[in-house]
Amino acid sequence: MEVTLITGASSGIGEALSNKLAEKKHNLLLVARNADKLQKQCNQLSKTYGIHAQYIVADLSKPNAANEVFDESKKRNLLVTLLVNNAGIGSSGEFIKNHLQSELDMIYLNNASLVALCHLYLPEMIKNQKGSIINVASLAAFVPSPYMAAYAASKAFVRSFTQALTEECKPYGIAVMLFNPGFTTTNFMNTPANNNEWGQTLVKGAYTQTSEQVAFEMVEALEKKKTFHVSGRGNRFTTKMAALIPNAIIAKVFANQKRKEMNL
Ligand SMILES: NC(=O)c1ccc[n+]([C@@H]2O[C@H](COP(=O)([O-])OP(=O)(O)OC[C@H]3O[C@@H](n4cnc5c(N)ncnc54)[C@H](OP(=O)(O)O)[C@@H]3O)[C@@H](O)[C@H]2O)c1
Repeated sequence: MEVTLITGASSGIGEALSNKLAEKKHNLLLVARNADKLQKQCNQLSKTYGIHAQYIVADLSKPNAANEVFDESKKRNLLVTLLVNNAGIGSSGEFIKNHLQSELDMIYLNNASLVALCHLYLPEMIKNQKGSIINVASLAAFVPSPYMAAYAASKAFVRSFTQALTEECKPYGIAVMLFNPGFTTTNFMNTPANNNEWGQTLVKGAYTQTSEQVAFEMVEALEKKKTFHVSGRGNRFTTKMAALIPNAIIAKVFANQKRKEMNL
């Protein structure tokens, strides 16, 4: 059976996307850690939209989790024709004060597992001449972000990797899209590494979208076969403006402004 695999499908943007794609009759393979949530979601999506929705529980911050997801999908005889690498977490605060293992786990989740899933599923997409990939980065992928240093760098990796992969995959007819949300009201800022004073300061005044709006734009971009999309008009404007200013200046101004807001 052909399926769309969405990582990080149990909440926020991934959950909203699972709803939108189920409505469009995609059969779904949802991946995240929260088994109860995934089970309820699969039941509800299957019942509401008459599709096949199933899930695999995986902690993608762990080495080999991507391989286990791939092996399990093969065992179930599933053919992934759309892979959405959406799972990701952030971290806010002064880098030297952040917990090192949490930073490394974040990098494994945001980068290594994303690369592994692309590497595992692309060969069959190419062989069958059918398939597409969406990698979710962020506005943070475009500029260094002091006090969110490792997160922004992990998203810059996603941006660079995906834009290169887009070109490598074109001759095979496989579409690869870099999708960049801006600040979106999800659980993203409620995780232990983000839910702190720095996190609150970093998102203050940001242009905000709901996860439904972001998922709507993602599906629209997919249907238009876009290879690049920044979600939200305000975010698109910000990205264009940021491209005109050297990164070092943006980082300096951002750091000074945030230190001032934190009374440092
Ligand atoms: N919200 C924003 O402002 C924003 C802005 C730019 C980019 N983004 C990006 O958008 C993507 C989705 O984030 P979101 O805002 O929707 O956040 P969210 O509501 O916190 O959702 C994150 C999803 O990732 C899953 N996840 C977290 N850690 C995982 C792990 N170790 N293994 C497997 N799955 C894991 C979570 O499920 P479990 O907890 O069940 O594992 C959840 O389904 C991320 O890549 C994020 O970087 C978000």
